[in-house]
Amino acid sequence: MININEYIDRVCEEFNDYVSNSPKLCDINIDFSAGKIPDYNDTNVQQAYLLRYAYGYAFEYKVMYNVLFGNYEYSDNISVLSIGCGCMIDYWSLTRALRQKTWEDCIIDYIGIDSVGWEYCFESEITDNIRFIQGDAVAVLENVPSISRDVFFFPKSISEFSHDDLERIGNSIGAKNQNDLFHLLISVRANEYSMHLDTKRVKKLISAISSHGYVTSDDPDMYWRFTHDGTNDDKKIRNTDSEFKHPSKAYSLMNTLNTKCEFYISNGVNCNSECKDRLTRNVMVNVDAISYKILTFRRGVK
Ligand SMILES: C[S@@+](CC[C@H](N)C(=O)[O-])C[C@H]1O[C@@H](n2cnc3c(N)ncnc32)[C@H](O)[C@@H]1O
Repeated sequence: MININEYIDRVCEEFNDYVSNSPKLCDINIDFSAGKIPDYNDTNVQQAYLLRYAYGYAFEYKVMYNVLFGNYEYSDNISVLSIGCGCMIDYWSLTRALRQKTWEDCIIDYIGIDSVGWEYCFESEITDNIRFIQGDAVAVLENVPSISRDVFFFPKSISEFSHDDLERIGNSIGAKNQNDLFHLLISVRANEYSMHLDTKRVKKLISAISSHGYVTSDDPDMYWRFTHDGTNDDKKIRNTDSEFKHPSKAYSLMNTLNTKCEFYISNGVNCNSECKDRLTRNVMVNVDAISYKILTFRRGVK
């Protein structure tokens, strides 16, 4: 499996080719405020998204699996359904968490669903069974006759589903999953306001799953945060997990992205006062933006 820094450097090289032609960067808009969603169909938007977030999310999803594997053993095999999988960063994180646990022989059966066919997808290890389904996750899950998964993962995707969508997804999981025990892993946006909105979504999902006889004793209001003692060094992902080196090339390119725009090159300023903030928003290299939930469901017992 490719290491995360090599992966980011590869994306960086291709994004660098694009920006070195001095394009107009108005369309590189990765803004999640007020319910906005970037245009993931645009390859250059994907590149900019990955340069900003892939490093941090890969770490976050690995932390989530580390926590799960601290409590449940999946040393032989594990089946995962990733809803809104993007380029399958969560699959990469799963393989690394298994490795850290020395469960390297565990066979992964991973299905990723996404409405967009992302480029830069992580390649499958030879022993794993990886499938990607392109489509609306709500419809895909309503159309399958049964499901058999140990883990349902929402990798930073839950906020892109409506309450109605999540009720329908929850009903499909609750009614069709064959496993008596499964886990819901949900990574959410860390700011208070978004967490509040996402908690409401999670409650919809839990209530729909529970209406089919599954029970969870995990608190839907509780989020797991990554704790550190507050010094700047301890906040760095690279000081927490040695397989994450500082993504230097991505960091310097993204930090000065506004200066690569055609308008800036001709005029020495950006065409809009918001460009700098929008384009150079920091690459995620610290642990404090990490926020997630892990819920375990069992059929019929508290
Ligand atoms: C913020 S991105 C996260 C991508 C990826 N999981 C990651 O970790 O980078 C949200 C993803 O959810 C997908 N998505 C949103 N609504 C969807 C739907 N109804 N069905 C399938 N995928 C959906 C988007 O296409 C996008 O790839």
